[in-house]
Amino acid sequence: MKKLTIESHLEVFDTISELPDNIQKIMNKAHEARENAYAPYSQFKVGAALELASGEIVSGNNQENAAFPSGLCAERVAVFYAGATYPNAKITTIAITARSLKHIITTPIAPCGACRQSLAEYEVNQKSPMAVYFMGETGKVIRANSVKDLLPLIFDNSYL
Ligand code: THU
Repeated sequence: MKKLTIESHLEVFDTISELPDNIQKIMNKAHEARENAYAPYSQFKVGAALELASGEIVSGNNQENAAFPSGLCAERVAVFYAGATYPNAKITTIAITARSLKHIITTPIAPCGACRQSLAEYEVNQKSPMAVYFMGETGKVIRANSVKDLLPLIFDNSYL
């Protein structure tokens, strides 16, 4: 038996103002998108903004449904929209932000497992890393250089 140790190296910024200007711009687009989320059931609004290699920013937010599993997370709304609209565009960065209508979120909200898997599909295909920044309503921002840093032992199309 051998032990396998998996390490992820993330960066933590104290506030959004510590981020480079171009990343603040993407995060601010995510904040804007977040406010348009349709989250009447969870009262938990999430926004995601993706920057493409062209510099264009596309965004999405969570869309809930009375039949709960029929809703979709912000990250997947954004990445599927990007994939549908710009099929071959590389995604350089994704910024994610969450706000609860019940309490102030001051800790970074990481993307759920299903969203990490969906983002990984695009990162693997484009053969270059997608930086992932995530935060709550306020406070610290975490940066991962690649989706792979958030999803060790990734399942990808090389297995098929
Ligand atoms: N949600 C997201 O939009 N992204 C995530 O990564 C996790 C959760 C949404 C789904 C649901 O509308 C609400 O947040 C509460 O789970």
